[in-house]
Amino acid sequence: MNHKYLIIVTFVTILLAAGSCYYDNEEALYPSLNSSCDTTNVTFSGKIVPMLAGNCLSCHSNSMAAAAGNGIRLQDYTDVKARTTAIAGSIKHTGTYSPMPKNGGTLNACLIIQFDIWVNKGAPNN
Ligand code: HEC
Repeated sequence: MNHKYLIIVTFVTILLAAGSCYYDNEEALYPSLNSSCDTTNVTFSGKIVPMLAGNCLSCHSNSMAAAAGNGIRLQDYTDVKARTTAIAGSIKHTGTYSPMPKNGGTLNACLIIQFDIWVNKGAPNN
C-alpha cells in the first residue's frame, strides 16, 4: 500500500512540475503582443536603455565593445542614435545585418516593436 501511494505522489509531483515548466516556456516563447506590451510610453530611458542593458551591453558597452562587440558601442545615446538602422536590422534579423543578440536567439516581439516606435518618433533622447 505504502509503495503504491509513493508512486502516485511522485507521479502527481512530476505532472505538476512539468505543467509549471510548460507554462513558463509558453510565456517565454509567446510573450509578444499581449496586453502587457507597453506601446504608449516608449522612451529612450524607459524602454530602450533597459532593452540594451539586458541584451546587448555585455558585448556593446563602452568597456566591452573593443573586446566583444566588434568596436560597436551601444551604451550612450549618441552611439545608439547613430546606429538605429543597423540595430533594427540586427534585432529583426533582416537585410544583411548580423543577427543580434549574437548567439542569443531573437528578442521578444514587444522589445522589437518598442524599438521601432522609438525610432519612428525620431529616436529622441527622452
Ligand atoms: C555576445 C556578444 C554580443 C551581444 C550580446 C550582442 N552583440 Fe551585437 N555584435 C557582436 C559582434 C561580435 C558583432 C560583429 C558582427 C558579428 O560578429 O556578427 C556585433 C555586431 C552588431 C551590429 C552591427 C551589425 C551589422 O551587420 O552591421 C549591431 C547593430 C549590433 N551588433 C547590435 C546589437 C544589439 C542591438 C544587441 C542586443 C539586442 C547585440 N548587438 C548583442 C557581439 C554581440
